[in-house]
Amino acid sequence: MNDEKVFVPPIKTQGIKTKLVPFIKKYADVDKNSIWIEPFFGSGVVGFNLAPEKAIFSETNPYLVDFYLQLKKGTITSQIIREHLEENGRLLSEKDETYYYVVRERFNSTHSPLDFLFLNRSCFNGMIRFNKRGEFNVPYCHKPQRFSKAYITKVVNQVIHVEQLFRNHDWSFQCQSFEKTISEAPGNAFIYCDPPYIGRHVDYYDSWDEEQEQRLCDALKRSGHQFLLSTWDHNQYRENQYLQTIWGFCSKVNQEHFYHVGAREKNRVPMTEALMMNFTPTG
Ligand SMILES: C[S@@+](CC[C@H](N)C(=O)[O-])C[C@H]1O[C@@H](n2cnc3c(N)ncnc32)[C@H](O)[C@@H]1O
Repeated sequence: MNDEKVFVPPIKTQGIKTKLVPFIKKYADVDKNSIWIEPFFGSGVVGFNLAPEKAIFSETNPYLVDFYLQLKKGTITSQIIREHLEENGRLLSEKDETYYYVVRERFNSTHSPLDFLFLNRSCFNGMIRFNKRGEFNVPYCHKPQRFSKAYITKVVNQVIHVEQLFRNHDWSFQCQSFEKTISEAPGNAFIYCDPPYIGRHVDYYDSWDEEQEQRLCDALKRSGHQFLLSTWDHNQYRENQYLQTIWGFCSKVNQEHFYHVGAREKNRVPMTEALMMNFTPTG
C-alpha cells in the first residue's frame, strides 16, 4: 500500500491515521472470512482504506456516527451535501465569521449532519471538540472563501467515494462505547483499536485515562479475539510507560511519525508510534 494513494474521508478528526494506514495494513487481518471491528472509528480512514468486506464501525461521538448512518440510508447524499456547502459557503463568503457562528449555534440545537460537515471543514484546524454541556465549541478558521468550487468538489468527491464503498461492503455503524462493541464481537472478529492516546492531551468527545486503558485491555483479553492497538511509543522527552505495564504481554512494532502542531508546516513534532498485537507479527 506504500505506493497506493490513501483515501482521505470527508470528516477529519484529531489523531487521524492517514499517514499510518500503510503501516497498519501490514499487520491487519482483513481476510474475507473475518469481520473487522473498529471500536474507535474516528474519521474512518483506517477502515475505509483497508476496506474489509464486513465491518462494524463504532464510536462514542454521536455526530460522526450519525453522518455515516444517514449517508448509508440515503437521507443525505453527495448531491445534498454539494448543495448545502454551496449555499452555506456562499453565505460564509458574504458574512464571514458571523455566519460561521450562526451555523455553529444551529448545529448545537439541531445536530444536522450537514452542518457538522460544514463546521468540520471550516473550523480552526479541522478539530472536533465539545464543551461540558456537549456543545461543539471550536472557533472559526477565518477563511471566508473556504468553500471555493474546487474545495467543495474535493469534499463531495470524498463523500462519493464513501457512497461507492457502501454499495459493495457490508458495513454497520454504531454509537456506543468500546466495551459494548468488543463484548458483542462475533467469533470471526479481528479488532483494530485506536483509542485516544493515553498520557497525551486529547480533546475528543470523551476523556481517556489509565482506568479506561486498563478496561480496554481487559475487554480485549476477555474477548479472546486477535487485535491490533495503535498507540504512541515515545518522543524525544517521554516514553509510554503503559506499553510495559498494561500491554506488556503484546508484540510490538514501531514506526516514526510526525504530528503537525498548529497550521505551520515547520511545526512538525516527531513521535514514534507503536502497534501492539496479541499475535506474532509476520508483516
Ligand atoms: C484516536 S481517535 C480515532 C482516530 C481514527 N482511527 C482515525 O484515524 O481517524 C479516537 C476516537 O475514539 C473515540 N472515543 C473516545 N472514547 C471512546 C470510548 N469510550 N468508546 C468508543 N470510542 C471512544 C473518540 O470520539 C475518537 O473519535
